Amino acid sequence: MNSRKFLLAGVLLMMAGCESSQPGPGFEQLIVPILNRHCVMCHMVDGAQGELSLHPQPYAALVGKASTQSDLLLVAPGDVEGSYLYHKLVGSHLRVGGEGDSMPYQRDLLQSNDIDVIEQWIVQGARDN
Ligand code: HEC
Repeated sequence: MNSRKFLLAGVLLMMAGCESSQPGPGFEQLIVPILNRHCVMCHMVDGAQGELSLHPQPYAALVGKASTQSDLLLVAPGDVEGSYLYHKLVGSHLRVGGEGDSMPYQRDLLQSNDIDVIEQWIVQGARDN
């Protein structure tokens, strides 16, 4: 292999490396703003409704935490069907053994692109990034 080809191979390898480690939707950048806009007013620390506090530590409150309404976790990394948060957002929470209203409580469901962002974040491992 001459040196130019060698260089090219190196660059391609680096690009492939970047591709596979590219982070999915970031929690701080994409998820927290949705929660702050639509959820935190009811799910504040102290007096949180539904026994869920999404402020000031939303990640710790959601990921790997048991739901109080169902047997599911609120967010199961990589598993949308197993994430009760997702079912509350799309209104399928009763089907999976949950209770109560869809979220946001007694309001319209979130816009579908907001729900998509949260779904993708869960699918890609619910990373804290
Ligand atoms: C107007 C107040 C209000 C808003 C806004 C609201 N919630 Fe809730 N939430 C509640 C109440 C009340 C409950 C308990 C009763 C029920 O589930 O219907 C609850 C319950 C929940 C639960 C169940 C917790 C568990 O342990 O199973 C989740 C998850 C949840 N909310 C997430 C959200 C998310 C995410 C948003 C924003 C998209 C949101 N909520 C917006 C009031 C609210």
